[in-house]
Amino acid sequence: MTYLRLIYASRPVDYAPETLGAVLAGSQRRNIRDDITGALIARADLFLQMLEGPASLVDQAYARIRQDPRHENMRLLVRRETQWRLFPGWTMREASDTEWIWTPEQVAHGLPAKAPRHEVEAIFVRLWREGLTPPARRFTLRRKSLL
Ligand SMILES: Cc1cc2nc3c(=O)[nH]c(=O)nc-3n(C[C@H](O)[C@H](O)[C@H](O)COP(=O)(O)O)c2cc1C
Repeated sequence: MTYLRLIYASRPVDYAPETLGAVLAGSQRRNIRDDITGALIARADLFLQMLEGPASLVDQAYARIRQDPRHENMRLLVRRETQWRLFPGWTMREASDTEWIWTPEQVAHGLPAKAPRHEVEAIFVRLWREGLTPPARRFTLRRKSLL
């Protein structure tokens, strides 16, 4: 089975817990329908989202997300075929506590759009791995800065 993996970055408009909750609830409902999985990194200065699933459905979801007024300055960072999903079983995993990715200053300077594609994908690989790691081990992994 071949899937499309797509990652974009954008800037939230009026970031608030209620907005994020609404975005996630709606997304998860539609993604079940569309066989889409992925993860959404959400913080006041950044949305970084990975969508993976059947190509046409991922493209359609991306086209809808582009029109969404709850964020702006959207930039497509990765769009490629893949043989496996990184987040199978997650209709849309949410990640907070993500200061390790880029500092607010780096985001303000447009680093997400400048980062090499493999670096952007590695962020999600690390998220995936942290999901597998019991909390007691997380600290060690962070300290060694394993990406
Ligand atoms: C940061 C962000 C992430 C989103 N993620 C998804 C998603 O994974 N899947 C999805 O269907 N819609 C997602 N949405 C919602 C879409 O922008 C859009 O509101 C929705 O798909 C519209 O569906 P409708 O045209 O059927 O009403 C997201 C919106 C935002 C702001």
